[in-house]
Amino acid sequence: MIIETLVTTINIDRSANLSPMGAVFGERLDIFELRPYAGSRTLENLRQRREGVMHVVDDALLLVRALLDQWPERPPLNLATVVAATMLKEYLRAYEFRAKYIDETSHRASITCEIVEQHIGKPPRGICRGLNAVVEASILISRSQFLPAEEINRHLPELEQIVAKTGNASDREAMALLLAHYHSTSARRTIGQP
Ligand SMILES: Cc1cc2nc3c(=O)[nH]c(=O)nc-3n(C[C@H](O)[C@H](O)[C@H](O)COP(=O)(O)O)c2cc1C
Repeated sequence: MIIETLVTTINIDRSANLSPMGAVFGERLDIFELRPYAGSRTLENLRQRREGVMHVVDDALLLVRALLDQWPERPPLNLATVVAATMLKEYLRAYEFRAKYIDETSHRASITCEIVEQHIGKPPRGICRGLNAVVEASILISRSQFLPAEEINRHLPELEQIVAKTGNASDREAMALLLAHYHSTSARRTIGQP
């Protein structure tokens, strides 16, 4: 099972890094796997300091802002209680973890993480198709460097419609940000700019 989460780690300059990452769970609930691509800051940070915090959230706008690194205001952070890292102030669940093993033999590293502390935050909003549709769209757009544009363009209109029909205002804002980012970067790609 993969839960789409937000992971905080500490950058080399000691600032906080916040990234959407899938957390893969097997039978055990105290261990999960992160699978960052080579070159990601989360991988580099966990190589340097093997600690971070994984957050379960249901805030699509926060997830999209973290993906695009676009903030009117950065989200408030607290110090974690067991590991040397920072954590979001608002979450559903937050799991402080230590990276036990890092396997980089494939293009996607496999990091086995052990949960050392957990925090219970806000109650979840419940199953919402609008939220799920923003998550799907954000994954598609985060892969736009290597997925064919036709595939992304095929799925986006339906996801957009689901968000419009079933999401809340923050889901709709998240979807609008994602689409604006996607259209501006795909226009740049078409005319060959970096
Ligand atoms: C819902 C969601 C899940 C993601 N899961 C992963 C993942 O498991 N591994 C990964 O390398 N990137 C994943 N990404 C893409 C990263 O968030 C994105 O590449 C980000 O820029 C990496 O940030 P970093 O360089 O600060 O680690 C995901 C994106 C989204 C929206």
